[in-house]
This record gives sequence, structure tokens and C-alpha cells, in this order.
Amino acid sequence: MAIPKEQLESVEERVLRIVSQNGAKEDSLLQVLHDVQADDNSLSEAELIQVARAMDIPLSRVYGVATFYSLYSVHPRGRFVIRVCESAPCHITGARAVIGAFEEALGIKMGETTKDRKFTLEYTSCLGVCGVAPAVMINDRVYGNLTPQKIPEVLADYDEDE
Ligand code: FES
Repeated sequence: MAIPKEQLESVEERVLRIVSQNGAKEDSLLQVLHDVQADDNSLSEAELIQVARAMDIPLSRVYGVATFYSLYSVHPRGRFVIRVCESAPCHITGARAVIGAFEEALGIKMGETTKDRKFTLEYTSCLGVCGVAPAVMINDRVYGNLTPQKIPEVLADYDEDE
């Protein structure tokens, strides 16, 4: 699909600003992709092209990194990405029931995004907070010791963002 010229220019300006803040060396690629993705939790084709140009890195390499790490997505996602830990400690302490509660509350299945592009539900591996399993991360915020009963309260934290 063609991208309007005005939109492409604004993507270019934004990517150039982020690259100049982080440096154009390949070591900065992960941070640059993180910052570029921050506006809508996903990396569009136009953004990947501009990152490759601005950092003088082959597009195939940029795309490879963007698709290798689960923190990045080249598919549209919601403004809030709910990452549910599926590693063993969370699994045995009730992650499955927590997943069921999120799916029921949001009306979507794991891997899907709500129609209003507000929430995306994804699996993740260990978040490093096994002491409070089962745990999830919503954007940069961690929630632990979850039960299905606590899910409406967790989602209520995002009610004001309408
Ligand atoms: S196993 Fe879930 S946070 Fe470590």
C-alpha cells in the first residue's frame, strides 16, 4: 500500500531525530527500534526503511532484528501490550487462568488485538519476577501475584486513557 508523501516525511523526521539521539552505530539498533516503536507498539514498513537509511544498515538486517526479538512487532498492535509470562513458575501458579480472564474481559484470544487497537494480548518468556508469579507486563509496568479476580482491577488502570 502506498504511503502518503506527507506521512513518509514525518516518519523520516521522527526516525532521524531518534537516530541522532541514540547514534547511528549498529550497536544502537535495538534502542533505536525500541524508541521508534514507542508511538504505537509496532514497527511499520516505512519506519524500518527509514531506520535502515538513517543508520546505513541493510534493510534485511533491520527487518531481521525487528522480527527476531519478541519485544518488537512488525504487525499493528494495541497501545497497551499485555505480555503474559508462560514460563514454568508462572504456568504452575495459574497463568492459564489469568490468560482466560484477560481473554474474557477483552473479548480476544492470545495473539490478538482489540478492535479499538487499545490492547494486544501476547505470550512472553520469564519477566524476571518469578517471586510474584503469575506475572504480566503491560507496556513497561509489571503486575504480579495475579488471579483471575484481579484482572478487571488491572485493566481499570487503563480506563482513563480514553
Ligand atoms: S516465570 Fe514468570 S516471571 Fe519468571
